[in-house]
Amino acid sequence: MAEFFHRKLERNAIGFVVAIVAVASIGGLVEIAPLFTIDETVEDAPDMRVYTPLELAGRNIYIREGCYACHSQMIRTLRDEVERYGPYSLAVESKYDHPMLWGSKRTGPDIARLGDKYSDAWHVAHLINPRDVVPESVMPKYGWLARNALRTDDLGLHLKAMSRVGVPYTQEMIDNATNDAFGQASPDSSFAGGVTERYGEATHVRAFDGDAARLTEMDALVAYLQILGKLTDAAQPKTASAEE
Ligand code: HEC
Repeated sequence: MAEFFHRKLERNAIGFVVAIVAVASIGGLVEIAPLFTIDETVEDAPDMRVYTPLELAGRNIYIREGCYACHSQMIRTLRDEVERYGPYSLAVESKYDHPMLWGSKRTGPDIARLGDKYSDAWHVAHLINPRDVVPESVMPKYGWLARNALRTDDLGLHLKAMSRVGVPYTQEMIDNATNDAFGQASPDSSFAGGVTERYGEATHVRAFDGDAARLTEMDALVAYLQILGKLTDAAQPKTASAEE
């Protein structure tokens, strides 16, 4: 029966084209139709803040060093993931990530909700030699991050490029990017105040690598790691009444 149907269909050129279009459009519709409701399906996060210049520099180092090859930043909706890592990732949480760093392989754990899990000193020790704090670790050492001075002269341009693709950096943030990067890691300097003024009181301002006198790549990377999952509360469990 099926064989007879195919024989007839495949010999009828026009009928076969119509059948191919019909079958292909089912797949297309399944992918396209949900996009019509994207405004309702992608949640909004009014409290979401942008990365500071120092965090953005740290994110660039994360990309440069290939950390994403072993770490994902994307907690799936599966129960075992939520129990291990915390609330599953929402689309809105990566809305300022260009490029996004969800990753597709986990040699190490997911770090989408890493912020505030460990102290800065733990991260510094771990990045210099992971075996010092996690004896069984297979993660590589990144000791040079603590020695390399952070390049900051190009951060204004970097913020500007981000604003071109939709990240709401103001002209003031762009103009002050280099000073803000320095100020965020030097709490006693005259530049520190500008950081919380522009990025909010909750912004971490401290000597991330333990040395306020030098701005290193370690400062930037640790500042970035400590903000992961903390740019918005959108994914945090709501109270029972708010959930109704
Ligand atoms: C070759 C794979 C590999 C690479 C590359 C790698 N890591 Fe890891 N990472 C691991 C493994 C495995 C662990 C788990 C053991 C440990 O804690 O050291 C880990 C653990 C971590 C943790 C602790 C997470 C937690 O919740 O306990 C952090 C933070 C981290 N890595 C950051 C980084 C950063 C930043 C980079 C890039 C500079 C990086 N990793 C590169 C494999 C890797």
